Amino acid sequence: MAGEELRSLADRAVAEIGAAVDEAALEAARVRYLGRKDGALTEATKRIGSLPAAEKPAYGAAVNEAKRRIEAAVEERSGALRTATVARELAGEHVDATLPPRRVRLGRLHPVTQTMRDVSRIFATLGFETVEGPEIEWDYYAFEALNIPAGHPAREKWQTLWISNPLGDDPARPMLGRPHTSPMQVRVMEQRKPPIRVVIPGRCYRYEATDAIRESIFFQYEGLAIDEKLTMSDLKGTLYAFARQVFGSDRKIRFRVDYFPFTEPSAEIAFDCFACEGKDPHCRVCGGDGWIEAAGCGMVHPDVLRRVGYDPKRYQGFAFGGGLERLAMLRTGAPDIRLFYQNDLRFLEQF
Ligand code: DAH
Repeated sequence: MAGEELRSLADRAVAEIGAAVDEAALEAARVRYLGRKDGALTEATKRIGSLPAAEKPAYGAAVNEAKRRIEAAVEERSGALRTATVARELAGEHVDATLPPRRVRLGRLHPVTQTMRDVSRIFATLGFETVEGPEIEWDYYAFEALNIPAGHPAREKWQTLWISNPLGDDPARPMLGRPHTSPMQVRVMEQRKPPIRVVIPGRCYRYEATDAIRESIFFQYEGLAIDEKLTMSDLKGTLYAFARQVFGSDRKIRFRVDYFPFTEPSAEIAFDCFACEGKDPHCRVCGGDGWIEAAGCGMVHPDVLRRVGYDPKRYQGFAFGGGLERLAMLRTGAPDIRLFYQNDLRFLEQF
């Protein structure tokens, strides 16, 4: 093959390569000319060996030139095809800036957790430290130390779930799921010296049929203040301040006589209804009563103080305890305590 023929071979190759419509056609053309096995140019290269020495340099140069042109053409076409592919893909893509963004699902705190934190925060402004205690408790702290010995009728009110012999040490000494947070009053007093101001939020357990306002697993918050000159008016002032921060500045608070074995005197606290202020006989928050029962409270019983080694002549104190879900229901308008624990996001996401 003379130089002339090699040139026209290269011309044909460049034309075919330039006309390749896609990557596959380009590859086929490349193999046809540059393919190692029987590409046209490879054949031509093999021939060099059989040529007379005088013709070899010119022929070799012509082969190299043809090869260079063909390779350059492949390179160029390949680039052009790639650019075209990208352009086609871009043309097919539509960015619609008017579409709503995809929703990011943010997590949030459970309404009962939110309420618990608010209670802690509010009592912190009144000088109360938040502490926590065990959910599984000894009979002594849950009952005995609170003036509720075995056989006391008040135990009926705090029936709970018993756990037999949990530590394996004494079968006669079972533990229980605490039915209220009041045992923490005793634990805190045992561990500290007055003055004491603590609030204890925590999970409680009761042997109970559930209904719209009762759960067998629920939360309470407990408050305890012990000092040298505390009186019932300190208790009232503290709870007023709390009620105002939770429900607004105009709240009234009602104290009515109640009975708890570990306080003397004892009272029940109710807030005047923040929803209807006592004006709506069909109010769905207070049921038309005008008052919302919130907690039990009282002055810590002298026997309770004596049991932890405090002198009741020197130290007095007040205590209170109420249901956290109750507060959460009042603040959110949730009509049923069980909604908090069904894990239905349609409910929980509202808060
Ligand atoms: N522990 C009581 C209950 O669960 C509520 C209570 C009443 C707590 C009087 C107190 C208190 O601290 O002084 O029903």
